[in-house]
Amino acid sequence: MSAKVGVSVLLIVVACSTSEVAARIEFTNLVCTSLDKAFSDFEYCYLRSVNRTYKYFSIKSVFYQSPITKVKVNLSLHKRFNGYRPFLYNVTVDACRFLRNPRSNPILNFFYGFITPYIGKVSCPFKNSLSYDKIAAEWINKQVTAVLPFPEGDYMIEVNWMAYDINRAITKFYATLS
Ligand SMILES: *[C@@H]1O[C@H](CO)[C@@H](O)[C@H](O)[C@H]1NC(C)=O
Ligand SMILES: *[C@@H]1O[C@H](CO)[C@@H](O)[C@H](O)[C@H]1NC(C)=O
Ligand SMILES: *[C@@H]1O[C@H](CO)[C@@H](O)[C@H](O)[C@H]1NC(C)=O
Repeated sequence: MSAKVGVSVLLIVVACSTSEVAARIEFTNLVCTSLDKAFSDFEYCYLRSVNRTYKYFSIKSVFYQSPITKVKVNLSLHKRFNGYRPFLYNVTVDACRFLRNPRSNPILNFFYGFITPYIGKVSCPFKNSLSYDKIAAEWINKQVTAVLPFPEGDYMIEVNWMAYDINRAITKFYATLS
């Protein structure tokens, strides 16, 4: 099953159980937290609005104990009901194994596809630093709306970055679907 088909099937199931279906995604915030500044830190992390149609993210993380050979990532989607609650996805993957064969995880590959046009393939072990510059919100919007329907609401994607089984950093992406 391709990532798009996999994600579409999942979203159609969700959409059928709700009445409101979203057509537009608007990023509202980006928060990066380093939990171990001796291990890694963020040099920058922001969401910038240039004008009404051009918004982008830039993130740069710096590794102080590179190369990092063992990385796990867990990604969970949260939807705001009464505070942000876990919603649909909650996956943990071995990043090095995933990067060797991205098709092994269709859902993560779908998200990974958002950044590869900007930074090319990421490889493991991780060395020195990793940066994503000016990832256009409009580009992500196009990718997500390509797999609509998706229920309206406020969402948050939380990504925990674990190296050698210790949680080192958290990034949270906030968006509103309307
Ligand atoms: C928004 O900014 C971008 C980049 O500077 C520019 O190319 C685009 O024409 C602008 N759009 C509007 C509606 O002003
Ligand atoms: C995700 O799943 C794990 C294992 O089942 C659980 O411990 C964790 O609390 C879940 N996290 C979220 C955000 O739902
Ligand atoms: C992700 O990792 C954090 C830190 O290890 C943990 O608290 C959380 O329950 C994990 N969530 C998932 C999706 O497994």
